This record gives sequence, C-alpha cells and structure tokens, in this order.
Amino acid sequence: MTLIQTNTETTTEKSLLSTSQLQPSSLRIPALERPDHAMQIWLFSGLFWLTVAMIVGIIEAVKLFYPEFLQSVPALAYGRLRPVHVNIGVFGFMSMGYLGAAFYMVPRLTQAPLFSETLGVLTAWGWNFNLLGGCLAIMAGYSKGKEYSEIPFPFDMGFGLLEIAIAGNIFSTFVMRREKRLYVSLWYILLAIIPFPIYYTLGNANRFSGIEDAIVNWFYSHNLFGIWLTTLGLATIYYIVPKQVKKPLYSHTISFVGFWTLAAFYPWNGGHHVIWGPVPMWVMSASITASLAMFVPVFATIVNFGGTALGALSVLRTDVSYRFSILAYLGYAGASLWGSALAIMSFNAKIHFTYMTIAHVHLGFLGFGIAGLAAFTYFYLERSRKLKYSRPLAEWHFWLTVLGIVGYVASMAIIGLIEGNAWEMGNSPAGTMMLRTPYNIARAISGGVLLVGQGLFLGNVWQTLATSTKDADLDAGKLVWQKSSQDNPRR
Ligand code: HEM
Ligand code: HEM
Repeated sequence: MTLIQTNTETTTEKSLLSTSQLQPSSLRIPALERPDHAMQIWLFSGLFWLTVAMIVGIIEAVKLFYPEFLQSVPALAYGRLRPVHVNIGVFGFMSMGYLGAAFYMVPRLTQAPLFSETLGVLTAWGWNFNLLGGCLAIMAGYSKGKEYSEIPFPFDMGFGLLEIAIAGNIFSTFVMRREKRLYVSLWYILLAIIPFPIYYTLGNANRFSGIEDAIVNWFYSHNLFGIWLTTLGLATIYYIVPKQVKKPLYSHTISFVGFWTLAAFYPWNGGHHVIWGPVPMWVMSASITASLAMFVPVFATIVNFGGTALGALSVLRTDVSYRFSILAYLGYAGASLWGSALAIMSFNAKIHFTYMTIAHVHLGFLGFGIAGLAAFTYFYLERSRKLKYSRPLAEWHFWLTVLGIVGYVASMAIIGLIEGNAWEMGNSPAGTMMLRTPYNIARAISGGVLLVGQGLFLGNVWQTLATSTKDADLDAGKLVWQKSSQDNPRR
C-alpha cells in the first residue's frame, strides 16, 4: 500500500531552520540570519524582474509593427532593448525566482539549516545589482554581441563569481544534511548549481572565433535553458505537486530515470541551434540525436505527473496553486516535445529564422516560468506562511495568464508556419515581412493581457503579505515521502 508519511525527525523544525552552528561566524551577519530570508529576496526579486521583462517585451513587440515608437532615444533602440529583455527574463525573472524556490527547498529536503543565510542574502543583492549594471551597460551601447552572453565585462564575470558562491552555499548545506534519503528535487538542484558555473564561464570568457565560437556559445546557451532553468523548475514542481494533492509522487523510480536521462542528453542539445550552419555534420547529428532522445525524460514526467494527478482532479477546482503547477508542467512538456520536433532537419529547414522559434521559446518561458513561479508563490503563502490570499484575484490571474500565453504562442506559431511555407515556395523573407503585422499586434495585446494578470498577482501577494503578522510556518519544513513497499526511494 502506498501512503504518505510525514517525516518525523527528532530535531524540531525550529532548530532545523535556525542559524547553523557549523558555519564560521565570519560568514554571519546576525541581522540577515532570519530563516527563509534569502529565499524571500531571491523569489520576490524574480517577480520584480518579471514585471520589467514584460514591460520591455511589450515595448519591443510594439516597435515591431510601429517602428517609430520611442525611436529618438538610442538607449531604447530595438537592438539594445531585445538583449535587455532576454537577459532580464532569463537571469532576472527565471533564475532569481527559481533560485528562491531552491533556497526554500534545500533546508527542508536536507533537514539542515541553510549553510549561510547571510551569504544567500548578499548573493541575491549582488545578483540584482550585477544584472542592473549589465543591462544599463547594454542600453549604453556596450555588448559582447553574442546571444545570451551580451552582458559585458565585468558584469559577466560578476555572475560567474556569484554562481560559484550560490553553489558553495547550497552544496555546503547538502553536505551537512541530516536527512540521508535524497528526494528527486535535490538531485535536480545539484545538477543545476554544480556544472552551470563552468558552462557559464565557457560561454562568456571563451576566446574562440568563427564557427567554433558559435558551437561553444550554443553549448553554453542551451545548458542555460536546459541544465540551469529547466532543472530548477522541475525541482520546484516535483516538490510542490505531492504536497498540493496530498498524495505521494506516482513513482520515485521513474523520476530517477527521468533525472538521469535528462542529465545525460540535455548537455549535448546545443548543436541543434546551428542545424544547416557551416558546422561539422557530426555536431549536427549528435545534437539532433540528443534532442530526439529528450523524449525519454519528458515521457518520464508525463507518466509521473499524470499518474500523480489521476485521482486528484478535484484539487484542480479548489486549489489555484495546483492549477498553476499543471499549467507549468504543460508548458514544460509542450515546449520540450515541440523542441524535439524543431530539431528534425527537414522541419528545421522550414522554420529556422521564422517566428515559430519565438513561439517555442515563450511557451517555455511563459508557461514553465510564469506558471511555475506563480504556483510556488501561492504555495509558499498558503502552506508555509498560512496566509489567505484573495481567491477571486488568483482566479483572474490564472485565466488572464492562460489567455495571454495562448494568444502569444498561437499568434507566433501560426505566422511562423505561414512564413516557413512561403519561404519554402521561393518567396523572400523581405517579401513576406508585412504578413507579420497583424500577428505582431496580436502578440503585443497578449503581452498586455499577461501584464495585467501578473499585476493582479503581485497586488494580491503584496496585499496578503502586508496584512500578515505571521512568520514563516516552521511546520512547513516537514517532508512528505512516498513510503511504499514497491517504490521505496532508498532501494
Ligand atoms: C509580456 C510578455 C512578453 C512579450 C510581449 C515578449 C516579447 C518579445 C519579443 C518582441 C521578442 C523579440 C522577438 C524577435 O526578435 O523576433 C522576445 C524575445 C525573447 N523573449 Fe520575450 N516577451 C515577453 C515575455 C518574456 C519572458 C517573461 C521571458 C522570460 C524569460 C522572455 C524571454 C525571451 C527570450 C529568451 C527571447 C529571445 C528569443 C530568441 O532569440 O529566439 N520573454 N520577446
Ligand atoms: C526537449 C527539450 C527541448 C528541445 C529539444 C529544444 C529544441 C530547440 C531547437 C531545435 C531550437 C532552435 C530552433 C531554430 O532553429 O530556430 C530551440 C530554440 C530555443 N529553445 Fe528550445 N528546446 C527544448 C526545450 C526548451 C525549453 C524547456 C526552453 C525554455 C525553458 C527552451 C528555450 C529555447 C530558446 C530560448 C530558444 C531560442 C534560442 C535562440 O535562437 O535565441 N527550449 N530549442
């Protein structure tokens, strides 16, 4: 029989979340050593940057059908705003938000206090200022000119050092853990924090040129989406879903198959960004094979989350946070299966350079990113802080988010297919350019809908926290494990 067991350690939750005795006193600033202090700054900074990313995205979207918009300000030129939007979305919103979730999960999964709340808080502020500095530099015209590595020196190296400090903090907590069993979320977090500083440095500091540079840059960039953002996002969903449905995960064994296949295949996906480019054939073949093999880890999550959701359908009606988790999961699985299809050579020949890529990207970032972090934030307020947020506002937030994502992704996918077919028939990209206008307008409107939805969300969170006098609920740290004779995680 499968049952949920709340892990009852002899140590109390209070002592688990309080300042570590093992940590050198030089790493502690008492005013910063509050339980969950670091995670709050990471999470709420992520939500702040989401708002900025969306506003910049909407300005860009408007410029694409009305180029005169803000034309006289060089800092707001399309070529500068686009990398600012991308970097704020990737490093501000998604990285900070999901690191907030990781700083929440790690002490609870290890049953040990965070190695250093002080370091966690300082790295969060360092990350915020570094990102601000990097984006202002891009707006002032300084850029390395390579996608996802635009942020110039010294801010790029600032991120590298901060990533090492974050990895050190989380890994030290892991080493000091009191819980010996490892839940799958912890595996995913370790997979994100340990190799990523290496990928990041390789992508940002390499001295290659020409096609070698492109191959190395895409190796880094794809791992930015796959090994950094996706793993942190999956860790979060794996953590909150069993608690939301009050049921153990369908199968820990399948979750580990998913984990190891993702860890094995994702790092080799980067070459699919240069299919049909002047790169050696083996680079293309290897990355296409790895992209198709990604079906295995995605299928593992389909079985696991599908199995967990079965029998818990009624929770969808009552818990908005769980509904967001499912939306995030659909965003992840949808973007991934779509991505595998984009890597097929014949299909890639048709859609490369079309808006179909933009549709795929935003299904990943809006679906998996916005929905996943909304799910976690509501979960945090309700389960950890025991606070009541406004349900009607959360319902509006959910449906406006769905509408915005569907509008954005559908408009870009449809025009992507239209232009791909037109180019295949011999029309030039310049000739089909005007076809984009109505779809660009639809994208800007969908962005506006998303912005209104997230505005309601932030207002709701703000209002809920402002009226609360309660601290973090210390019970929230208790683990929920699947304990079953068929599927014991310790086997
Ligand atoms: C209101 C919502 C948003 C709007 C209106 C919007 C709009 C845009 C626009 C106009 C582009 C440029 C497309 C092109 O050059 O053809 C773009 C690219 C991009 N956006 Fe967004 N965006 C939004 C939200 C986000 C968020 C939240 C993220 C989070 C990470 C994000 C990540 C990206 C990325 C990575 C690209 C580059 C895609 C590529 O090069 O293929 N966007 N977005
Ligand atoms: C199995 C998983 C995935 C595969 C195989 C995959 C595959 C691909 C392929 C083939 C492209 C290039 C399309 C073109 O030729 O223009 C692409 C672009 C992209 N994908 Fe994915 N994708 C996957 C999942 C994701 C997820 C989950 C995200 C976001 C969280 C994401 C973010 C991106 C971004 C940002 C780009 C645009 C890069 C650029 O050109 O600037 N992908 N993906």
